[in-house]
Amino acid sequence: APRALACAALRLRSLLLLLPVLAPGHACPAGCACTDPHTVDCRDRGLPRVPDLFPLDVRKLLVAGNRIQQIPEDFFIFYGDLVYLDFRNNSLRSLEKGTFSGSAKLAFLDLSYNNLTQLGAGAFRSAGRLVKLSLANNNLVGVHEAAFETLESLQVLELNNNNLHSLSVAALDALPALRTLRLDGNPWLCDCEFAHLFSWMQENAPKLPRGLDGIQCSLPMENRRIPLQELSEASFSECKFSLSLTDLFIIVFSGVAVSIAAIISSFFLATVVQCFQRCAPNKDTEDEDEDEDD
Ligand SMILES: *[C@@H]1O[C@H](CO)[C@@H](O)[C@H](O)[C@H]1NC(C)=O
Ligand SMILES: *[C@@H]1O[C@H](CO)[C@@H](O)[C@H](O)[C@H]1NC(C)=O
Repeated sequence: APRALACAALRLRSLLLLLPVLAPGHACPAGCACTDPHTVDCRDRGLPRVPDLFPLDVRKLLVAGNRIQQIPEDFFIFYGDLVYLDFRNNSLRSLEKGTFSGSAKLAFLDLSYNNLTQLGAGAFRSAGRLVKLSLANNNLVGVHEAAFETLESLQVLELNNNNLHSLSVAALDALPALRTLRLDGNPWLCDCEFAHLFSWMQENAPKLPRGLDGIQCSLPMENRRIPLQELSEASFSECKFSLSLTDLFIIVFSGVAVSIAAIISSFFLATVVQCFQRCAPNKDTEDEDEDEDD
């Protein structure tokens, strides 16, 4: 029993030791600078992961220029007061689903110069106050059409200098407050899917800070890159006639229906004609009959 008591006392003591660290507005992770009560600056420290034990009420966290490979899944559960997160120039490869589910106050998120390749559906779900999101200079090849859902306040989105061949217009249409979008520095493919994005860019030209400058696309079969300024809606006129699977189905189906109708009606006509030939009493015969009667 005394041993258990000692153990409990020890636990209590370590808990008490932890308290000042966890208490709001105190303590600073080793090697970081806490310039004011709500800011933690851990930039350029060669850190392999997000340091533990920040003040729980941290609002501005700077971890740019480290080697961090992951934003811990429960990060925003602990640091729900974060408004500003600078994660630029790290080694992030992916974002775990639900990472941002506690990030109701986050307004600024810089994930540029990382190694992200894919953005899944709802990657930033719950970050409803996010105003600026930078994903520039990653290695993005795929952005899900629902990747930016719930980002109702997002005004600035940077997707420049990635590896994007295409981007669904639906992903952009999910952003009602969008004012600035960077799309330059991607190897866009000028195919019919791109035609939708091209129309979007023309309709939303004021949102592209450099207009169509610096945005190029390459032709599917060639290696030549074409500046978007040289293209017009007419360049994609072929795509106007490209058919979706349903269109195709309707056309094939109606074609079949028309053929069947044609076959039936020609049968009917043939029968009618035959009937006229066979059943209708021949005028000459009738005359002959009349003659015989006479
Ligand atoms: C990234 O961080 C490293 C280490 O701090 C630094 O040497 C490098 O210049 C930074 N690169 C960019 C693009 O900011
Ligand atoms: C990014 O990923 C590529 C290939 O997976 C790798 O070669 C490169 O070193 C990575 N860069 C960083 C900064 O982790």
